[in-house]
Amino acid sequence: MKITVVGAGAVGATCADNIARKELATELVLLDIKEGFAEGKAQDIMQTAALLNFDTRVTGSTNDYSKTANSDVVVVTSGIPRKPGMTREELIGTNANIVKTVCENILQYSPNAIFVIISNPMDTMTYLALKSTGIPKNRIIGMGGILDSARFKYQLTQHLNCSAADLNAVVIGGHGDTTMIPLIDKATWNSVPVKNFLTDAQKEQIVKDTMVGGATLTKLLGTSAWYAPGAAGAALVEAIVRDEKKLFTCCVALDGEYGQKDICLGVPVIIGKNGWEKIIDFQLTADEQKLFDESATAVRSMNAVLQ
Ligand code: 2OP
Repeated sequence: MKITVVGAGAVGATCADNIARKELATELVLLDIKEGFAEGKAQDIMQTAALLNFDTRVTGSTNDYSKTANSDVVVVTSGIPRKPGMTREELIGTNANIVKTVCENILQYSPNAIFVIISNPMDTMTYLALKSTGIPKNRIIGMGGILDSARFKYQLTQHLNCSAADLNAVVIGGHGDTTMIPLIDKATWNSVPVKNFLTDAQKEQIVKDTMVGGATLTKLLGTSAWYAPGAAGAALVEAIVRDEKKLFTCCVALDGEYGQKDICLGVPVIIGKNGWEKIIDFQLTADEQKLFDESATAVRSMNAVLQ
């Protein structure tokens, strides 16, 4: 198994670190355009092998895509991160060109790779990856919903004083401050609806804090987050390479599912060795469907900027 992570910034390096620790590949390539940067990060990760007991061989490459040849899975984190006060959508001008070039270069050397897209604005970058590579839709997966669902669970633990592992809670829709939809009425604490334990004000607060989860961290850190985005990317890679058939919310191409087509948006999917293998119908309420349609409208207007 060979995996490539493009972009050795904080998110890419954290994702690579998680992939190496979990031994998801025999070979892991970290690639960046900044001279020596990926090589340095790769060596640093490799020097933890003796301490953490893993055998994944991590190497770095300065923009030499031949080193990524025959990768099974490629994680794309390239592009600029947002600064405090910026939305993910404001990154589109710079990141669209970068992501398009990266995907084309990767495809040249790894024609059968499954693409995991983390770059922002993630829904539009996933759509761009799909259109620019022309590869089957099941091999293009945007990571956002896994991260947003993990942040949703974090917010729930703060109010319920419970273990995140006991929660079942998902965020669908876009990966934007106003486009994501935490499905709080469907969330459970070991099968019991969480709404049984929360006031309406608490429910509202949890949804609000989840939606601005990334923006809150950007404000605190001065740049966007990396531990949870990196771990979410690695969880998605793990589900692919171990053929786990995990049910995750991911950004995938819709063709009529959830009432939308010609768009990539977050919905529950089964993840396995073929990429995303099946879309699961969560049977949204009329209110949830309305939010989903609004999210699609917002993401569609971002996608229009690509033309
Ligand atoms: C975030 O929400 C990087 O989009 C990512 O933190």
